[in-house]
Amino acid sequence: MLSTTEIGLIKATVPILREHGLLLTQHFYKRMFQYNPELRNTFNMGNQQNGTQQTALALAVLAYAENIENPGVLLPVLQRIGDKHTSLQITAEQYDIVGAHLLASIGEVLGDAATADLIAAWAKAYGQLADLMINLEKSIYLEKASVPGAWTGWRKFIIDKKVPESEEITSFYLRPEDGLEVVQHQPGQYLSIKVFVPAVGIYQPRQYSISSAPDAAYYRISVKKEQGNEEKEAGTVSNLLHAQLEEGAVIEATTPAGDFVLSTEHSTPLVLLSAGVGQTPFISILDFLTKSDQQRQVKWAHACRSENVHAFREQINAWQMEHDWFEHVVFYENIESSTKDNVLSKDSRSGRMNVAEITEMLLIPEAEYYLCGPKPFIEKAINDLSALGVDRKKLFFEEFGPQTIQLN
Ligand SMILES: Cc1cc2nc3c(=O)[nH]c(=O)nc-3n(C[C@H](O)[C@H](O)[C@H](O)COP(=O)(O)OP(=O)(O)OC[C@H]3O[C@@H](n4cnc5c(N)ncnc54)[C@H](O)[C@@H]3O)c2cc1C
Ligand code: HEM
Repeated sequence: MLSTTEIGLIKATVPILREHGLLLTQHFYKRMFQYNPELRNTFNMGNQQNGTQQTALALAVLAYAENIENPGVLLPVLQRIGDKHTSLQITAEQYDIVGAHLLASIGEVLGDAATADLIAAWAKAYGQLADLMINLEKSIYLEKASVPGAWTGWRKFIIDKKVPESEEITSFYLRPEDGLEVVQHQPGQYLSIKVFVPAVGIYQPRQYSISSAPDAAYYRISVKKEQGNEEKEAGTVSNLLHAQLEEGAVIEATTPAGDFVLSTEHSTPLVLLSAGVGQTPFISILDFLTKSDQQRQVKWAHACRSENVHAFREQINAWQMEHDWFEHVVFYENIESSTKDNVLSKDSRSGRMNVAEITEMLLIPEAEYYLCGPKPFIEKAINDLSALGVDRKKLFFEEFGPQTIQLN
């Protein structure tokens, strides 16, 4: 237990963390990779380059300091982090390494302001948080090991089939090399995969939402090729998957993870809002619902740049024709660049997604709202839906990177 004095010391760092938290976490990661370069195989180095992981950690450290008297309120957040950690096989021992670098970084960044008492208080506070997370992660590992098809650690999967779904999204059908059963995921969950990147000589993990219905034999992921431009480099793993890892190649994966899942205990109407490759968890949800024919009311609004990059278009249209409980509308930002013969159907609109245009479709009493896409898209959707009176408790979202959006 932290003493009142120690709690006071931690709380006194809140304003500093609010202003300089990012500086602290940037320093922390630089230091950790310098002293423990092997961890570059465990972290997503793309997220280090674009700064999202440093931001996510800074927000987590700040939230912890702010709630130091009652860290229990952070449990939903910690559960999410624990899900990500366990999907990456983080161990209890690694908490000591992270703790040592975090405390050293506090000292190095704060300089003279980091008194011995302050460092001692943070050491105790970190220990308390680490214990909480290690126990939480232990129970996640145990729970995951207890379901049919479960495995521990990284398991080898063969890329059985590669299927282009649009100009830039390709599906990968992954079958376990050992030919045994796999865990049937909950629709909406992701798979952490790991590939060796020859250009930098390290392994790199990434997460991909499973884009198929639960199945004991295989998983399907659908990956967007992240092209580079003057401002950003081309994505490492997505390009490797698209261009170099052919059918028959082997990659590794851990068991499905994530809490952005369809709740199946009740049949509440669902409203899905996605942009770009953010459609993948919803493809899994629809594939599941249509196969089980649950007759649950589903409205799905999707946005993408043009028809050429709109993956799964034919499949979604077919679902819509077959099931009267499912309605789909798509916004094409750039109609002119569409080269498909298909003219716009009544369900296609031009421009960016405009919630005002489809308010009637979206506002369903009791509905749950699932949002997935780039950060600005999710933020706008949250604001638009909140302005229409949708309760924030009914909003669920998934960022395709470290979580940096906070609901309150
Ligand atoms: C839960 C979850 C589910 C996901 N599901 C999917 C999915 O279904 N399909 C899918 O395609 N993706 C999905 N993603 C995203 C995926 O994990 C990868 O982030 C994505 O494929 C990009 O990885 P990459 O290695 O190609 O790019 P990275 O090399 O990781 O680069 C990421 C981005 O950073 C930019 N970047 C690179 N270097 C720099 C630099 N120096 N400065 C600034 N920016 C830079 C790149 O241009 C790129 O845009 C998901 C992510 C999460 C967390
Ligand atoms: C109390 C200590 C820790 C805190 C507060 C913490 C916090 C976080 C947060 C907030 C995220 C982002 C989650 C998301 O995707 O939204 C994350 C991801 C991650 N953490 Fe931790 N973490 C801690 C300890 C550790 C340890 C000990 C390791 C082991 C090396 C570790 C490795 C990782 C990795 C590899 C990721 C994914 C990074 C990425 O995808 O870019 N963390 N952590």
